[in-house]
Amino acid sequence: MSLKLAVIYYSATATVDSMARRVALAGEKQGAEVRLRHVEEIAPPAAIDSNREWSEHVAATADAPRATPDDVVWADAVLFGTPTRFGNVASQLKNYLDSLGPQWSQGQLADKVYAGFTASQTQHGGQETTLLALYNTMYHFGGILVPPGYTDPVKFADGNPYGVGHVTGPDNDAPLENTQLDALDHLVERVLEVTGKLRS
Ligand SMILES: Cc1cc2nc3c(=O)[nH]c(=O)nc-3n(C[C@H](O)[C@H](O)[C@H](O)COP(=O)(O)O)c2cc1C
Repeated sequence: MSLKLAVIYYSATATVDSMARRVALAGEKQGAEVRLRHVEEIAPPAAIDSNREWSEHVAATADAPRATPDDVVWADAVLFGTPTRFGNVASQLKNYLDSLGPQWSQGQLADKVYAGFTASQTQHGGQETTLLALYNTMYHFGGILVPPGYTDPVKFADGNPYGVGHVTGPDNDAPLENTQLDALDHLVERVLEVTGKLRS
């Protein structure tokens, strides 16, 4: 039976969306059943409308399936994606995580594999603190964190043992390079490998 991978993420200006799509593709290529789910937008319209890239992304993803609590319950492994916000998890993803109390109280979030990916504008802009903040919640789930560490040569190139990060640069538009794409593929491969061992 194929492993179930949920890719649950928030993206305002499409960077983390690109990362999530790559993660989902890698999961499918590796034979997993994948759910790709954007969390609900909760920012006020005035904030969204003040940023052209943000409002374009909201329009582009208007019909995309939204994450529900069942997506985590369903999955064997969950990869969460979030932009770095002041070195922390975006409130939209946190809002989703904070909706999982009923599932948590029934033990439905435990014993699954979790890991994460993020994007920031600047190189030392808080990617690692964001991932560690994200992982605080996974401890409370009773989850099994599977960080990439330095388990593949690509990790010595992308340099993030906590997950995968992308730097968007001064104009917030730097595309994903091969290093980040390979690091995302490796993260998925590792997460599915460990999940498979746990399930067998
Ligand atoms: C409110 C806010 C806070 C941010 N905080 C940081 C930060 O702490 N460090 C950083 O490098 N970039 C920061 N950024 C830039 C975002 O991380 C960057 O635009 C994001 O990764 C792009 O992801 P997205 O296109 O998927 O929304 C911030 C952006 C916003 C709007």
